[in-house]
Amino acid sequence: MNRTELARIAHAMVAKGRGILAADESTGTIKKRFDKIKVESTEETRRAYREMLFAAPGAAEYISGVIMYDETLRQSTKGGERFADLLGRLGVVPGIKVDAGTKSMPNFPGEVITEGLDGLAGRLAEYHKLGARFAKWRAVIDIGAGIPTRTCIETNAELLARYAALCQEAEIVPIVEPEVLMDGSHTLERCEEVTNAVLAEVFQRLDAHRVYLEGIVLKPNMVIAGQKCAERAGPAQVAEATVRCLKRHVPSAVAGIAFLSGGQSEPEATLHLDLMNRIGSLPWALSFSYGRALQSTALSSWSGVAAQVAGAQREFIKRARLNGLAAQGKYDPALEKQAA
Ligand code: 13P
Repeated sequence: MNRTELARIAHAMVAKGRGILAADESTGTIKKRFDKIKVESTEETRRAYREMLFAAPGAAEYISGVIMYDETLRQSTKGGERFADLLGRLGVVPGIKVDAGTKSMPNFPGEVITEGLDGLAGRLAEYHKLGARFAKWRAVIDIGAGIPTRTCIETNAELLARYAALCQEAEIVPIVEPEVLMDGSHTLERCEEVTNAVLAEVFQRLDAHRVYLEGIVLKPNMVIAGQKCAERAGPAQVAEATVRCLKRHVPSAVAGIAFLSGGQSEPEATLHLDLMNRIGSLPWALSFSYGRALQSTALSSWSGVAAQVAGAQREFIKRARLNGLAAQGKYDPALEKQAA
């Protein structure tokens, strides 16, 4: 394992004022997103959409890395440049989602476990050859009546740790993503309780598997009430609870933390990140690895129309810029009103 190289890449992924674009929607998920804008999901429309994002002029100022899906890592721009080469040329680290999605967990109704360890070492070696320098694995923890169970938390944490160890062996930085979902009607306090339990277990398993913490990026959920919860917590409460939870469980050796957006609106995800960074005195960089909260407006502006590419790119760059500011505690919600 080349620790120096792993730490260098991990730090580049959370460099000051920059964050990660999660564009690794599986073929099934991107179809759902395209259905909403009435665009047929084909290999070519998916390629054109990703090119719109990756080639957005100036986006690299705020985007440090891009998570791709297997198909995307093998695709190229219309002009024939491989996406991984385009990103590398722009100073953006190419990444790859390597989990194979979630499956119901036998004997544990309502809980899921992430698949994809079988043959992973071989796939990582190929992905490295194709240009990927970091990877992502997402574990999913749902909150509901009687769940999550200890077994679900322990099993998912063990899988994340084994994935992370395999990545580092292949000189690929693992994004370790334990996502406590914000679906459901639970309170912020319940989310904090579960996130505490999940992070404690994840770092215990990472330690047991001798994962090099300076060479990982943690991708957690924020501590937030479920979307169906009647008690809305204010943004300051979300920021405080999230930082409190992270400080308790994330060793300062970890290269950085890049949040998922998880269903928050674009401005909400940006404001929460900004408020956390304003708390200050944090041992790690707090940045973003957003999917929906970077793409939603850009996706609908694009709507599959070539003539709308430039406008959609401006929307994407606006979100990337505002999140880049939030990653430094320099965002102002009044900026939302400015034209893209
Ligand atoms: P969201 O920001 O849309 O939650 O997506 C991030 C991601 O990569 C989830 O795995």
